[in-house]
Amino acid sequence: MTTLRQIELVQDSFALVLPVTAQAAAEFYRRLFIIAPDTKPLFHSDMEEQGRKLFLTLATVVDALDRLEDVLPVATDLAVRHVTYGAKIRHYDAVGTALIETLRALLGVHFDEETEAAWGCAYGLLSGAMIAAAEAVVAQPVQA
Ligand code: HEM
Repeated sequence: MTTLRQIELVQDSFALVLPVTAQAAAEFYRRLFIIAPDTKPLFHSDMEEQGRKLFLTLATVVDALDRLEDVLPVATDLAVRHVTYGAKIRHYDAVGTALIETLRALLGVHFDEETEAAWGCAYGLLSGAMIAAAEAVVAQPVQA
């Protein structure tokens, strides 16, 4: 459950990152590949382009935190595509940790405990929805 205050904290802190998303994306992948090295071989595209796509999606979700039902179909489709990219359920925790660490490194004093907890909550909602969608796909029996 994300409170209105938490939504505000996530949106305000993300606004501070927006001018430096290229740097944030590079930092995010650097940290992800340390936390979960087995994710690195799954990426085949240009990483700058990939970072742009990631932050564009995050911006959409952050913007819609007060009406998540609007973006859940987007998150569900994204999660289903991620199964084909080779993303595993355990990787969602690694992505969450890399994201929080990146925000902490970039925002410094602007990323206080309350803001970090708010991000944890928001990422939990998004990743929870994506994991549920991914599990539903994986659990589907193979068609004869
Ligand atoms: C909140 C979580 C995540 C978000 C918002 C996100 C976002 C995205 C976006 C927007 C793309 C571009 C392609 C597309 O739209 O289908 C993408 C691709 C990709 N993502 Fe994620 N992602 C997330 C979690 C993960 C996780 C947990 C993994 C696990 C390793 C992962 C690995 C990949 C890979 C391998 C690609 C394809 C790269 C390529 O084409 O070379 N992502 N992601």
